[in-house]
Amino acid sequence: MDRTLMIIKPDAVAKRVIGEILRRVEAEGFAIRQLRMTQLSKERAEAFYAVHRERPFFGALVEFMTSGPAVPMALERADAVAHLRQFIGSTDSTEAAPGTIRREFGTDVQCNAVHASDSPENAAREIEFFFGKSA
Ligand code: RTP
Ligand code: MG
Repeated sequence: MDRTLMIIKPDAVAKRVIGEILRRVEAEGFAIRQLRMTQLSKERAEAFYAVHRERPFFGALVEFMTSGPAVPMALERADAVAHLRQFIGSTDSTEAAPGTIRREFGTDVQCNAVHASDSPENAAREIEFFFGKSA
């Protein structure tokens, strides 16, 4: 079993679809191992998405991710990282496949409902970012 990090982003929290997203994630075979609600500070959001620091959308991304509470969680499943990326759909919600989380609950390329780790190495780093080494 592998672990990955998912975040229900502030747009989806504001839309009150936390429960619906969690239901779908569990029905897909993921076990929720850690979960909390947190409002990211500007510094924490910048650190989390540091890989995008030079991208034109970085400022808007940080503003979006700090705009309200978010719900990070550690999820466990066989092939967790790749499976969750498939399950949430592509970055732009308007282009994500029908039935995916981003298509169902996101709005556009920025407000796309959820984050998911893109590699096992980043999953380990991101789980530690929110839950510490014991996770
Ligand atoms: P994430 O890291 O949140 O799971 O998303 P991702 O891998 O699918 O996409 P990534 O390229 O890592 O982008 C991170 C987040 O930045 C916002 N974004 N805005 N305005 C834009 O063109 C743009 N592009 C990306 C999205 O919130 C995206 O999920
Ligand atoms: Mg990414």
